[in-house]
Parts: sequence; C-alpha cells; structure tokens
Amino acid sequence: MTDHRRSAPAALRNRDPILAVLREILPARGLVLEIASGTGEHVVHFARHLPQLTFQPSDPDEGARASVAAWIEGSGLDNIRAPIALDAASPPWPLPQADAIICINMIHISPWRATEGLLDGAALVLPSGAPLYLYGPYRRRDAPTAPSNEAFDASLRGRDPAWGLRLLEDVAARAAQAGFALERAVEMPASNLSVVFRRL
Ligand SMILES: C[S@@+](CC[C@H](N)C(=O)[O-])C[C@H]1O[C@@H](n2cnc3c(N)ncnc32)[C@H](O)[C@@H]1O
Repeated sequence: MTDHRRSAPAALRNRDPILAVLREILPARGLVLEIASGTGEHVVHFARHLPQLTFQPSDPDEGARASVAAWIEGSGLDNIRAPIALDAASPPWPLPQADAIICINMIHISPWRATEGLLDGAALVLPSGAPLYLYGPYRRRDAPTAPSNEAFDASLRGRDPAWGLRLLEDVAARAAQAGFALERAVEMPASNLSVVFRRL
C-alpha cells in the first residue's frame, strides 16, 4: 500500500511555538479552517492538542491533500474533517463559514493575489471578532530583515519572481481594506512572525 504522508522538517520545528500562540487566540470551540495545509502534520498536531475544536484542512494541491488525508487517517482523531480543495486566490471558497482561519507559510510562496484572495475570502467566511492567523517570514518597514530571510527571499524570487517575503505593513493595509484589524505580531523562532488579525 502506498503511504502518501509527506513530512516537512520545518513543520516539526515550528508546530509547538505556533500551537502556543493558537492556544491564546483561537475560540474555545468551533471550526478552524486551515489554508495551505501542506503535509498535514500541523493540522494533526493542533487537533490533537486542541480537542475541543474541529479542524478543516485544505490545499489546492492534490498530492498535499493526499498527504493530509493519510496523516489524519493515521492519527485516529475525530476532530479533523477530510481535506478540501481550496485556492486562497479564488474566493468565494467552498466553505461558507468558519470560526477561525489559520494559514502557515503560504503568502511568501504564492503570488500577491493569493494574499489578497486569502484576506477577501477570509472576510466572507469569518464572523465579527474571529481571528485570522498568519505565520511566516516578513519584511517590516522599520526593522532590518534577518540575513537568513534575505537569502530566503532571493531564493524564492529565483524560483518565481511573483513570490517573496511580504512587507507586514502592506499585508496589514490590504487586510484593513478587506475588513480586518491587526491585533498583534509576535516574534517567533527563526525570524518568523505570528500575525493575528481580527474580523471587524
Ligand atoms: C511551504 S508550503 C506550507 C505548507 C504548510 N502550511 C506548512 O507550513 O508546512 C506552501 C503551501 O501553500 C499551498 N499554496 C500555494 N498557493 C496556494 C493558494 N493560492 N491557495 C492555497 N494554498 C496555496 C501549497 O500547495 C503548499 O501546500
């Protein structure tokens, strides 16, 4: 039998620091939509440690969805739904409502229209007060970019000129247009940020 499970070393390193932030910002109960689930290791970890929540993983990539499904099957957890095909860049999405949205390491590995779609799509799905959580490396207008992030940015742009680290202030401005307030940006290990928006 083929094992579709993929594994990402970064996901194993960052999942506990991310979980610590999620514990602070997610609602006590409800449905959490994950955009760009990738391997599925994150969603299984979060669902295991936050059993009162239900998780809806998603990814536009078929192989990623197969990996997510395989991780779910192996987990024995019953608070994760089957992964759905969802392209953040094309709202409205095939899910009408969620109580929170998380999106880890996507907005720099996709064109800017994916970020715009993420924000506009999230605004359609989330009720007032609900969190939109983003994680990844950013540039900030008034702070130097870590050399490791400069190198990462150059390698991303080499792979696709439409990819690359986003300026936090640009994301926050576009989020405000979509109907979100920036609640906080939390420094994370390896020069990443947790960025928490709330639906107005
Ligand atoms: C670097 S991986 C991150 C996966 C996972 N979140 C993690 O941190 O391990 C980027 C993911 O973004 C997904 N992705 C790329 N463009 C997307 C889009 N427009 N909408 C949703 N997901 C997208 C890819 O399919 C891939 O699974």
